[in-house]
Amino acid sequence: MDMANSTISVIDNRTGKRYELPIEYDAIRATDLAQIKVTPEGPGLVSYDPALLNTAACKSKISFIDGDRGILRYRGYPIEELAEQSTFLETAYLVVKGELPTTSHFRMWQHNIKMHTLVHENLKHFIEGFRYDAHPMGILIGTVGALSTFYPEAKRITDLESRRVQTRRLIGKMPTIAAFAYRHSRGLPYVYPDNDLSYTGNFLSMMFKMTELKYRPDPILERALDVLFILHADHEQNCSTTTMRAIGSAHSDPYACVAGAAAALGGPRHGSANEEVIHMLREIGSVDKIPAVIKEAKSGGARLTGFGHRVYKNYDPRAKIIKKIAYDVFEVTGKNPLIDIALELERIALQDDYFVKRKLYPNVDFYSGIIYEAMGIPIAMFPVLFALARTSGWMAQWAEMVLDEEQKITRPKQIYLGHDERRYVPLDQRRDGGALETEVVGPL
Ligand code: ACO
Repeated sequence: MDMANSTISVIDNRTGKRYELPIEYDAIRATDLAQIKVTPEGPGLVSYDPALLNTAACKSKISFIDGDRGILRYRGYPIEELAEQSTFLETAYLVVKGELPTTSHFRMWQHNIKMHTLVHENLKHFIEGFRYDAHPMGILIGTVGALSTFYPEAKRITDLESRRVQTRRLIGKMPTIAAFAYRHSRGLPYVYPDNDLSYTGNFLSMMFKMTELKYRPDPILERALDVLFILHADHEQNCSTTTMRAIGSAHSDPYACVAGAAAALGGPRHGSANEEVIHMLREIGSVDKIPAVIKEAKSGGARLTGFGHRVYKNYDPRAKIIKKIAYDVFEVTGKNPLIDIALELERIALQDDYFVKRKLYPNVDFYSGIIYEAMGIPIAMFPVLFALARTSGWMAQWAEMVLDEEQKITRPKQIYLGHDERRYVPLDQRRDGGALETEVVGPL
């Protein structure tokens, strides 16, 4: 590698031809590979990277992660400092706008978000259309997608004012939709937003208010939830954010993008893992069963949910903070007995060669569910809370993508391994077991 000129030389051993590929930001441009011809007429060399393991698809200024050192920063601020000193709404401002707000800007931001906590009454009817046992994540995804029909101007994605309004709307309305989804599943009347309360206090009110005239959230639980939301606000190019950017690259409106991102988040390998963790811990039931569970995970059976991360090859810094919050919450709610199983599982796994060698540590989802459960939040709501908190990050990433002149509609290449050209055979000539038998074994 020529460090002075920041290029890398690639020699094609077949032709002896030498190519100089510029290196910028520790990366080569994959499109520069196209000049290396594989065949004289062909489109040139491509990089093959299933699951985008080693591909940077954008330049970003929002989150920084150093997975080996267990570092996460939003806009340069360490997650530990934000969790200690900031509030979720202030962090959302930081993530979305790039700087911490001044007092007057923060006041205005809070006002602007609270202006958008109500949802159109028709949206309520929309939620009522879901079956009583619909998963709240499905309700959230469907309802957020439906929002785009209420705000058709959202498709003006190049208009700064429109982008700003949709961002405030989404951050303002997600708690309302999330809480309505929960109330629907319980057959309880919807609770309208109470803008005297904080962002998280209002969310708790919309979730849990019964017949009292005014809901007063417990300040410790309100703060714990606020910190959990801070920890989930953004996490660079994860699966749901990549989905957000990919849908956004087609210039779909941000409601459609958030619905798609939430659908990605709802998968058990991503934001639904905290739901799975509780099921796993309940199934384990007692600490004496842990060795058998570890043995099964090591033999390629059920994975230990809440363990491992694509980026963190060290302790997930968010899991460390969450572990601390758990004990504050238990002071109010009483201890969730699952914590003992979780701690023992972590202790045994972190001493085990299999987990040590693969650098599998507890991730953010390992402890968050235990806290939510102690707070009385039902398991099915866990990914919904994740989506609520991640909305600020999704919007920041989406806006960054919209304004990035290098971005185009997302359209990766493929390596085609299917049939070569063949002739159509009429239906009546295709026989079971005959020479023209169609291939019926496939993925679908
Ligand atoms: N339990 C047991 N073994 C595991 C686990 C686990 N939780 N996670 C990974 N491994 C093993 C794999 O079997 C593999 O072993 P091998 O090299 O012998 O084949 C090795 O570790 C690497 O695993 P990959 O699947 O290649 O790692 P990848 O980076 O693709 O996956 C992921 C990351 C999806 C998070 C994975 O660790 C996992 O499935 N964890 C459980 C689900 C989970 O907790 N998801 C939440 C992630 S955090 C978030 O999304 C907010």
